[in-house]
Amino acid sequence: MEYRRLGGELDVSIIGMGTWLTFDVTSDRDLAVRRDIIGECVAHGVTLIDSSPMYGKSEAVIGVTTESSRDKFVLATKVWTRGEAEGEAQIARSFELMKTDRMDVVQVHNLLDWRVQLPTLERLKDEEKIGLVGLTHNSAGAYPEMMDIMRTGGVDCIQIPYNVVNRAVEEKVLPLAADMGIGVLVMEPLQKGRYVGGLRTQPDHSPLLEFGIKTWAQALLAWVVSNPAVTSAIPATTRPERIAENAVAGDAGDLPGEIRDFIREETERCL
Ligand SMILES: NC(=O)c1ccc[n+]([C@@H]2O[C@H](COP(=O)([O-])OP(=O)(O)OC[C@H]3O[C@@H](n4cnc5c(N)ncnc54)[C@H](OP(=O)(O)O)[C@@H]3O)[C@@H](O)[C@H]2O)c1
Repeated sequence: MEYRRLGGELDVSIIGMGTWLTFDVTSDRDLAVRRDIIGECVAHGVTLIDSSPMYGKSEAVIGVTTESSRDKFVLATKVWTRGEAEGEAQIARSFELMKTDRMDVVQVHNLLDWRVQLPTLERLKDEEKIGLVGLTHNSAGAYPEMMDIMRTGGVDCIQIPYNVVNRAVEEKVLPLAADMGIGVLVMEPLQKGRYVGGLRTQPDHSPLLEFGIKTWAQALLAWVVSNPAVTSAIPATTRPERIAENAVAGDAGDLPGEIRDFIREETERCL
C-alpha cells in the first residue's frame, strides 16, 4: 500500500474507506461484519476512514469498531449544520461518537454554512484538537465556490467525486489543488458501485494483469489514484473481503497513460 501526504504531517493510504450507508447499522450481526471490515483495513494497511454526522450511525459504529486500534487510523468526519453553536456542538458529538480526543480531519460537508463553520475549524486546528481542515462537495456546480475558498489558503484538503466517467474536477479543481499543495480525497470512485455491478458486459482485464490488477473495481480505483493530484480514493463497502481486493489498487503504482485510457474506454464500452 502506498501512502501520500494529505496535509501537514499527515500521511494516508491511497486507498481509504468511505462509510456512507455501509456503516449505518445497528444489529449485532451487522456490527460484527463492520468489526471484520475494520480488521481487514488494519491487515491491508487501509488507514483512512471517512464519515459524517449525516451518515446515520456511521460515526458511532466507527467509534466502537476502531476503539482498540485507534492508532492505526486517520479518522475524517464532517460538520453538516448551520450556526456557530450548532457546528461546535456537532463536532463535539463526533469526537464522542468516534471515541477520540483528536480528530485527524474535519471537513465542511457540501460547503454548508462554510463562512461560519470554517473559522471554528481553524480555531480547533490552532488548539490542536483537529489535524486538518477540509471541504467537500459532490456537485460540479459548487466547484467555483469551492475553488474561491481554496484560494483563501485556509483549507488543507478537499473531497470531490472523481472516476472514469465523472471527470469534472480534471480541468480546474485538481490543478488548483496540486498548485496549492491541497490534499484530495475522492468520493464515489466506483460511481456508487455502478461501474462494477452495473456493467452490461464483462470488461477485458488482460492488459492490466501485469500491474497486478485482476478485478474491475481494482482497475477503477487504480485509475483514480494514478492521477498524481489525488491523495486517496475512499470506496465504501459492506463486505470485508472487498477491503483486500480494493487495497490491491494501492500497489498498482503509476499506470501509464495508455493503460488509464484503456480502463476509461473499456468502462464506457461496457456501460
Ligand atoms: N458530499 C460528500 O461529502 C460525499 C458524498 C458522497 C460520498 N462521500 C464519501 O465517499 C465515500 C464513497 O462514495 P460512495 O460510497 O457513494 O460510492 P463508491 O465508493 O463509489 O461505491 C460504493 C459501492 O461500491 C461497492 N463496492 C465497493 N468495493 C467493491 C468491489 N471491490 N467490487 C464491487 N463493488 C464494490 C459497494 O458495494 P458492496 O457493499 O457490495 O461492496 C458499495 O455499494 C462515501 O462512503 C462517503 O464516505 C462523501
